[in-house]
Amino acid sequence: MALQRTLSIVKPDAMEAGHSGAIIARLQQEGFAVKGLRQLHLTKEQAEGFYDVHRGRSFFGELVEFMSRGPIVVMALERDDAIAKYREVIGATDPAKAADGTIRKLYGKNVGENAVHGSDAVETAAREIGYFFPGMDVRPTA
Ligand code: RTP
Ligand code: MG
Repeated sequence: MALQRTLSIVKPDAMEAGHSGAIIARLQQEGFAVKGLRQLHLTKEQAEGFYDVHRGRSFFGELVEFMSRGPIVVMALERDDAIAKYREVIGATDPAKAADGTIRKLYGKNVGENAVHGSDAVETAAREIGYFFPGMDVRPTA
């Protein structure tokens, strides 16, 4: 499988609980190289823009409030088959349904406050990496 980049976010719930270090270490153990990393506190407008695809969904307001309530850590990660592999490591959206040992199972609270975000396709990874790392190459470079 080809080398890819994906966007990872440690969400406010996991930051508040002090899990960011453990989550980053786990991702590195899983073979992800950290190509970019920043901590920031999103405004509501930035959270709305990031999750624009969910505008109009019943949970959108709650999601924006949550994602803007405290600091987050955003990372551009690279490895073989990064997008699918990352989603495997984080587990299902609802931590109660996530497989044992996955990051959401370990650190997520509920379907809304689920510890981490991950891109779901090549196109969304490119958009999301560009959202937080303007000018960064969204494809792996030698
Ligand atoms: P993400 O985009 O954050 O990686 O999560 P995902 O692909 O697994 O799930 P998605 O359907 O894209 O939902 C985005 C985020 O919205 C919140 N959510 N709340 N209350 C609810 O029913 C509900 N459903 C989704 C979660 O924070 C979810 O990760
Ligand atoms: Mg999603």
